[in-house]
Amino acid sequence: MTKPTKVTLTFDNGIEPIELPILSGNLGSDVIDIRTLGKHGIFTYDPGFLSTASCNSDITFIDGEKGLLYYRGYPIEQLAENCDFLEVAYLLINGELPNELEKKQFSSTIHQHTMLHDQLTNVFRGFRRDAHPMAVMVGVVGSMSAFYHDSVDVLDPILREITSNRLLAKVPTVAAWSYKYNIGQPFIYPQNHLNYAENFMHMMFATPCEKYEPNPVLAKAFERILILHADHEQNASTSTVRLAGSSGANPFACIAAGIASLWGPAHGGANEATLKMLEEIGDVSRISEFIKRAKDKNDSFRLMGFGHRVYRSMDPRAAIMQRTCYEVLNELGLHNDPLFKLALELEKIALEDEYFVSRRLYPNVDFYSGIVMRAMGIPNSMFTAIFALARTAGWIAQWNEMITNPEAKIGRPRQLYTGNTRRDFIPVDKR
Ligand code: ACO
Repeated sequence: MTKPTKVTLTFDNGIEPIELPILSGNLGSDVIDIRTLGKHGIFTYDPGFLSTASCNSDITFIDGEKGLLYYRGYPIEQLAENCDFLEVAYLLINGELPNELEKKQFSSTIHQHTMLHDQLTNVFRGFRRDAHPMAVMVGVVGSMSAFYHDSVDVLDPILREITSNRLLAKVPTVAAWSYKYNIGQPFIYPQNHLNYAENFMHMMFATPCEKYEPNPVLAKAFERILILHADHEQNASTSTVRLAGSSGANPFACIAAGIASLWGPAHGGANEATLKMLEEIGDVSRISEFIKRAKDKNDSFRLMGFGHRVYRSMDPRAAIMQRTCYEVLNELGLHNDPLFKLALELEKIALEDEYFVSRRLYPNVDFYSGIVMRAMGIPNSMFTAIFALARTAGWIAQWNEMITNPEAKIGRPRQLYTGNTRRDFIPVDKR
């Protein structure tokens, strides 16, 4: 059967039918182009964008049915196996993998921007000592708009590149310092001879009294976590960055908006919740009790790290993360880690259970990432912050694409008004 190229909208009250074109991408679902509907005084209703493509994009492709994830056409498995994070960031932002010279130059540029303006330390010190690292990140990244205002003409490609480089280079420093501030340790400055992942681990774990030698197996695993989280097409935080940026707003402020959106437990906070759940289950003998609770409609408990809005089969990132989990735990001599064993058993039982099978609920990336990070010594409160530093690469790529897209317009959704109809003012003594 040939694909349809247009669709006709008919009305039951005699209004003329409206013909709408159907657009095809290179992969994935076709979309009905409804841009002309507004001219007819008709709008569509789609809370949560369940059936709406908000933009066209060349960056990331997901096939939720088949469990595929591509960055610029490359399967995530190949990138996670063969690339370092900066190569993937370069790919997302520029559209192609860098050649050797480009890779060297890009890496050197990013390393030259890792330090923060020294006055930013005063911004950190303005926060309460016990502030959550994500609260500090939202504030500090937003405040960078006041420190780097020389480079934010969003229509100038050179200045956009400088801003992108600054963000990619400095967000890890902000994330690591948010943690140091929270635990009352001095800020550790970036070390530019270390790679991106090692440098972050160094800023998190070194102290002025003790050198930190990054373990290469752990650094590699950390790099993979960053790659797996670098982009995921038009999710809530990415759409937030695009919407904020669509008005021409300051890019540091737009990324801060993305961080705020990511912070929510339904988005970036799920890895922390999965770990808490595994700790609560505590023992393999209690799995059936929790599976029963997850299936009970009168119980709000859900199996965290299971299910996904887009993936209706295995999240491809979950399989890579499971392998990474083995590698990290073996390296640390934790192959008998009880939480990992519990997670494996829980996955096995859930994957055979009719409730999960019929609803096509599979483990997502967050099911194993918490166990990996915990084994590496990263505290729960930093899980979402690390997600944010990885996703900064995707946010920058998507923001750049939005700014340069000739079809882009200021984001201005319509609404279905359900409030009062017109009524007249009543003076206060008569209300
Ligand atoms: N445990 C138990 N039941 C579940 C779960 C779960 N984790 N996820 C979905 N279901 C059930 C729902 O109760 C519903 O059942 P019903 O049809 O009998 O009413 C059915 O599966 C469909 O669920 P929806 O909520 O409609 O699916 P949706 O696509 O809206 O939700 C979501 C996806 C939010 C991720 C959900 O699966 C969930 O809450 N998972 C746990 C949290 C989690 O791991 N989030 C991380 C997502 S990945 C990321 O952000 C990086």
